[in-house]
Formats: sequence, C-alpha cells, structure tokens
Amino acid sequence: MLDIKNLTVTFNDGRSGMAVRGIDLHMKAGDTLGLVGESGSGKTVTAHTIAGLIERDLATIEGEVAFEGHDLLNCSVEEMRLLQGKDIGMIFQEPMTSLDPLMKIGRQIEETLKLHCKFTAEERRNMVFEVMKLVGLSNPDLTYKKYPHQLSGGQRQRAMIAAAFITHPKLLILDEPTTALDVTVQAQIIELLKRLNEKCGVSLLFISHDLRVIRRVCKKVAVMYNGVIVEQGDTEQVFNDPQHEYTKELVSAVAMRRRVNV
Ligand SMILES: Nc1ncnc2c1ncn2[C@@H]1O[C@H](COP(=O)(O)OP(=O)(O)OP(=O)(O)O)[C@@H](O)[C@H]1O
Ligand SMILES: [Mg+2]
Repeated sequence: MLDIKNLTVTFNDGRSGMAVRGIDLHMKAGDTLGLVGESGSGKTVTAHTIAGLIERDLATIEGEVAFEGHDLLNCSVEEMRLLQGKDIGMIFQEPMTSLDPLMKIGRQIEETLKLHCKFTAEERRNMVFEVMKLVGLSNPDLTYKKYPHQLSGGQRQRAMIAAAFITHPKLLILDEPTTALDVTVQAQIIELLKRLNEKCGVSLLFISHDLRVIRRVCKKVAVMYNGVIVEQGDTEQVFNDPQHEYTKELVSAVAMRRRVNV
C-alpha cells in the first residue's frame, strides 16, 4: 500500500541539512507501523512528505513514495488533494491548532465529505452523526453544534479523528496524537485507534516518542536517528532485542523510568 524507497528530504534554507536521509518504509493494508526516535530525527518530515504537506519550494525531495501505485512525489496537486483528504488522513498532536476555532465541530467533521463525495446535506449530516458515535463523541446532536473551545482536549482529538475518518481513509498518519492528553484519555484514544484498525482495517502510521504507546498500538516499528532508519521490524522483537546502539538507549531509558516509577 505504501512504499517508500530511498527517500531524502533536504530543506533549502541551508541550516537544517538533510532532515531525512535515504529511508525505506513499507506498509501493507491493515498494518500498524510505529515511528520512534529522538526530537529532530525526521519523523514529522517523513509524515508530512507522505501527506504532501512539504511545500515544494521549501525542500528538495528525492527517492520514491508510492501509495497504492500513485507516485506521491510527482503527482499533480489535484491528485494529491484527492488522495490526501480521502485515502490518507493526518492527525496531529494538538487538535486546537488544526481545528478552526470559529466553525462548529459538526461542520468541520463534514468538511472533507463536501470536498470529495457527492452526498446530500442530509446524508452528510447522518454520516457525521455515525462517525461521531464511532469515535465515542457522546450526544452527537449537542456536540455537533459546539465550537472547539467548548470541548475537552480528548473530545477535540476524537473530533479530529472523526474528521479524518469520515471518508474511510486507507491510511491514517498520526503525529503524536496522544501526547497532549492526560493518561486516562490517552488510553481511551489508543483503544479507539486500535478498534478502527481492527474493525475497519485502516492502516496506522503512528509517530510517538512513547514506546509504551507504540507497543500497544503497533505490530511493527521503525527507529529513526538523525534522519536515518537505524532499525525496523517486529515491535516486540525490536524492543526486546534491540540491535542498534540508539535503540538500546531508548529502550533502557524506558526501563529506567519504570524502575523509578515515573
Ligand atoms: N520547515 C522546515 N524548514 C527547515 N527545517 C526543517 C523544517 N521542518 C523540519 N526541519 C528540520 O528537519 C529536521 C527533522 O525535523 P522533524 O520535525 O521531522 O523532527 P521530529 O523527529 O518530528 O522531532 P520531534 O520529536 O521533536 O517532533 C530537524 O532538523 C528540523 O529542524
Ligand atoms: Mg515531530
């Protein structure tokens, strides 16, 4: 479904150098792939490249990114827009920055449907209610009419997931989707994402610095360090028997925190 070969992203500003250096990633339909690594290692740049969010005059992108046979690096803006909203959904850490503060939640969830599918207003509204229920937004009638600031952080993240999920995308890219949430809400969102993967078959590319979250959600993991994927494979195998020095450090840091109970 997703085939990344020898992807290199170099920002043109001359300061950052190569943010991503010749990485390979492959996902099949239904896969859950975690992307971990220290701050600045190139996780978000990788995700943004797949989602077509890197402006073409900002960086030089080399290599191949194919999604179901579409060449994402060379397709037209229209083709990208179509794939982006419909087949590839993207969810960020802080929904407040990606939700429009002046637009009611229900309308925002509905927005992608308007762009990509020919449904009547009533059909759209029903689909919004359905997806709100699916992601666990209670009282859809009431919630539909609320503004983002009237929801809790967890509800906002659910709304974002609903907005990304309403077109039944094949791939969801999640960049630290639970980092801004407290532990209980974090656990609920993780359960929701697992359910969407298992019941609806959506593939997840899940970026997180939290190895425990990755372990819960992702069967496979890729470890990034300084723009390179230093190790990838089965999550349990990589975490139980890390090969690369950086992965060893990462895993032992978590073990250490667990011992001191943080
Ligand atoms: N728009 C940009 N212009 C120039 N350099 C950038 C831009 N976006 C990212 N970079 C650089 O690319 C590198 C990788 O950044 P990226 O955001 O992918 O890191 P990350 O792994 O997501 O880190 P974090 O865990 O902190 O989110 C960094 O050196 C960063 O400074
Ligand atoms: Mg990032």
